[in-house]
Amino acid sequence: MTTDNAHSDLLIIGSGAAGLYAADRAAADGARVTLVTADQLASGSSYWSQGGIAAVTTADDDFASHAADTRAAGRGYCKDEAVTVLVREGAAIANDLIERGMPFDRHESGSLQRGLEGGHSHHRVLHALGVQTGKALVDFLIAQVRERANLTVIENAFAYRLLTDASGHCGGAMLYRWQHGDNLTLTANATVLATGGYSALFARSTNPHTSAGDGLALAANAGATLSDMAFVQFHPTAFYSASGPCFLLSEALRGAGATLVDAHGRRFLADRDGAELAPRDVVARAIFQQIEYQEQPFVGLDLRHLDPAHLTAGFDYLLKQVATQGVDSTREPIPVAPAAHYCIGGVATDLDGHTGVPGLYACGEVAATGVHGANRLASNSLLECLVFGQRTARHALHDRSPRQRPTPGNGCMMYVDSGRARDFIARRRDLADLLTAQAGLVRDADGLQYALDALDQASSESQTKPVRTGTEYYDCRTRYMYQIARTVVSSALHRPTSIGVHYRRDEPANNRHVDTTI
Ligand code: SIN
Repeated sequence: MTTDNAHSDLLIIGSGAAGLYAADRAAADGARVTLVTADQLASGSSYWSQGGIAAVTTADDDFASHAADTRAAGRGYCKDEAVTVLVREGAAIANDLIERGMPFDRHESGSLQRGLEGGHSHHRVLHALGVQTGKALVDFLIAQVRERANLTVIENAFAYRLLTDASGHCGGAMLYRWQHGDNLTLTANATVLATGGYSALFARSTNPHTSAGDGLALAANAGATLSDMAFVQFHPTAFYSASGPCFLLSEALRGAGATLVDAHGRRFLADRDGAELAPRDVVARAIFQQIEYQEQPFVGLDLRHLDPAHLTAGFDYLLKQVATQGVDSTREPIPVAPAAHYCIGGVATDLDGHTGVPGLYACGEVAATGVHGANRLASNSLLECLVFGQRTARHALHDRSPRQRPTPGNGCMMYVDSGRARDFIARRRDLADLLTAQAGLVRDADGLQYALDALDQASSESQTKPVRTGTEYYDCRTRYMYQIARTVVSSALHRPTSIGVHYRRDEPANNRHVDTTI
């Protein structure tokens, strides 16, 4: 069955912090907004985010300092104008959220708590519910969005194609609803992608499985450019178990004094500049090298020397998650290893979210504005979602690019052949292992070329004859994942020099570094 919905001013695909805030701001300006999400509203990578919101909200802090910290983390590769926008508009939005009642953590006196995190030279990180700031922000924004009479929410709808007209203008999207087994054709004056990143394509990821890059594939297939795809930030400390869950153990634990220990219980970063709180990419690579050296697939995050009452007060949620995996963190170090965390690469946009495809915008992690350079500063990602979500909504609403009636999607309606599910899952697992081994934290030309060839072969083998006319769900997901994985590998292959999160071990200077670390 096909459902043709009412036309909107703005169609927003994705309901993390960027999508929700863009939707809320556009609706507040009186626009008719449709917000669609592949899952439920309260899900996605923003919802899982443990970092806070970095913003200048005190007189002893200043924009120049936040901008300088962002650029230093980004290894000088940040787009200056994007950084200026982030820190200035971010401060205004943070203050607005405070005024509107966002439940940021406060001291007993009532004043806001402002945390100091790695790479920041001031106490400026606002948290809510401790390490559950993402959940608190998303819940807060959902409550606002639910109040807007001019905003329609459609959950559990997978966007599989963007509608374009003969002149290339994007006028909406086609979606498949699992629960109803039907297709929706949603038209809009402008369409905003806020679908998150692609880090769940890797074998270990701190993100939900939906962060598989489908939104990037949609944009690329409509003519948008993907940029900086090699830049995938790996978080040093995600819970490790051979076959169980992988979840983030916030940097804040190391901020509170947790140490990293090898298989023999010895600290292996104590003599490094910054020790366990060195920049995130440095710590992640040191763990990677330690794991290779000791041939045990994890290191330990040791909390045993810390005050249990203090830990419970700040990290109860995380410690309970650890305990459910059978690890008693008061008696043994928690097994951790790096995991793909945040994608700096994405759909290339200007500072107003425009992708270069008329009528198509992107914001949040799916977009690449250049704001993070080659390495994202801690707690700048929810901020990015809010700042660029707002800018994108406001500019998309005034999109006046010439348009015709979008080409209807008849003939490509989505259907599900459940017999293909097993093959899709196996292919996704193989792809995740390949990406992690050859295009993960440490890369070289031979491994990347091997990965590219393997992806091309797997992709051509996956192309089977459709059982009926239309777009088969698993076939579509398979094509998208190979397409995005290929851009990551090829981007890494074409960048022979290490910078930030992209580390080439075949660079002569880096060979020396790797050999002498342990
Ligand atoms: C963390 O809490 O360690 C993650 C924060 C972030 O990615 O900004």
